[in-house]
Amino acid sequence: MKVTGLALACSSLLFSCAPKEVPQVNLIPKPVHIEVTGGYFKVDSNLIFGNDQSGTIRYVVDESFNGGNPEGYALDVTEKGIELRAASKSGLFYGEQTLRQLYTSKGIPCVSIQDNPRFPYRGLHLDVSRHFFPKEEVMKLLNVMSYYKLNTLHMHLTDAGGWRIQMDKYPKLTTDVAFRTESDWQKWWDGKDRKYLPEGTPGAYGGYFTKEDIREIVDYATARHINIIPEIEFPGHSDEVFVAYPELSCAGKPYTTGDFCIGNEKSFTFMEDVLSEVIELFPSEYIHIGGDEAGKGAWKTCPKCQKRMKDEHLANVDELQSYLIHRIEKFLNNHGRHLLGWDEILQGGIAPNATVMSWRGTEGGIAAARMGHYAIMTPESHCYLDHYQDDPETQPLAFGACIPIGQTYSYDPAPDSLGSDICKYILGVQGNVWAEYLPTYEHAEYMIYPRIIALAEVDWTPMENKHPESFKTVSYTHLRDHET
Ligand code: ACM
Repeated sequence: MKVTGLALACSSLLFSCAPKEVPQVNLIPKPVHIEVTGGYFKVDSNLIFGNDQSGTIRYVVDESFNGGNPEGYALDVTEKGIELRAASKSGLFYGEQTLRQLYTSKGIPCVSIQDNPRFPYRGLHLDVSRHFFPKEEVMKLLNVMSYYKLNTLHMHLTDAGGWRIQMDKYPKLTTDVAFRTESDWQKWWDGKDRKYLPEGTPGAYGGYFTKEDIREIVDYATARHINIIPEIEFPGHSDEVFVAYPELSCAGKPYTTGDFCIGNEKSFTFMEDVLSEVIELFPSEYIHIGGDEAGKGAWKTCPKCQKRMKDEHLANVDELQSYLIHRIEKFLNNHGRHLLGWDEILQGGIAPNATVMSWRGTEGGIAAARMGHYAIMTPESHCYLDHYQDDPETQPLAFGACIPIGQTYSYDPAPDSLGSDICKYILGVQGNVWAEYLPTYEHAEYMIYPRIIALAEVDWTPMENKHPESFKTVSYTHLRDHET
């Protein structure tokens, strides 16, 4: 009896002292603080990937949590249960994304996590003009973004490739210039026969979002705590507009320019009408008005533009562009919205409340921040996901220089060397997905992965937690999971 009792005591001691498995966890973006305590909470995958109706997860909303940071969360998983605490529903949502990434067939590893993002703006851009991606594909992208805690999709809705959003006041934008003769961008753009085609023409390439499509996309994004910033290009990159409404260009003829005539009041009526319909559809505080790469050539000889410059005492065409941006900003501000534009909006003097998206390097964003304007960093050198990601010899046709994932990962948009007075104006980082060479969504995904996960970490993870070697290991597990 005695021996048996001792044996029992030993075996139960052995059982209780058996070390718990401490699994490797592979979270992207890496959290601010994580402790893996060993063991698992056994759980059905429906709890994590469906709706938790069972009450298994204890949700706590505490407005004072984490200094009130709405996107931070604390997650405690023990063998007995899960508690998720945050100051807002956004924080709970990000905690849930962490749970989704933690899930394994053995259960959820026991962890204690305290987490919040480094930057409030964590963006991805999608050009739907050069190639059109319908709403179902935009929604797929929103799923990927939410999994990696990105919170802003910037949709480049208009450009020479075709106008992509229904406008009630200007129906020709979709009936006449949302379709074109050729799907292949390069062939179409360089071809002698570059033309837009009426909607319904057999074999025409293109498409557009109806207002109902936009509402569905916005709702889908909102449910994933993602804001959609619409971009309507002014004053350049607008070739398609002048095929539908030639009177808005300096020459008054289609196929002559990509720039609006700034001397013509009708251009301002058009802009305000279009922006009014856009504001109705998108709740975003920011409306992106483009501003990049205007040719400006026609303005130098156009009598209307020259008269405007004289009347408004504008010294050059940069100031003429700035005049337009100031007027659009006033219109947006009067409607409770903020103007966001590419860094060329600094030319000729920045509008008083504008936020700058810095793409031609980081200088534009830093210059804006020095003047007390907010900036979003998206330098081509690190954030252009349409550029080659490996040796061009081995890759499908893409843009420009090669930007391997390590280069994207290494980017620090707000280094200490800039000083806190500048850094406080840097809202975050965005990856840009231009679509000239992305004929399908699958191809777009090929370019977006894996650099999107590096960007997610640039945007969320504190610099001191970023380590290229461990990121490499963890990112492999994510890519493997993405492929299966
Ligand atoms: C840009 O890449 N033209 C903003």
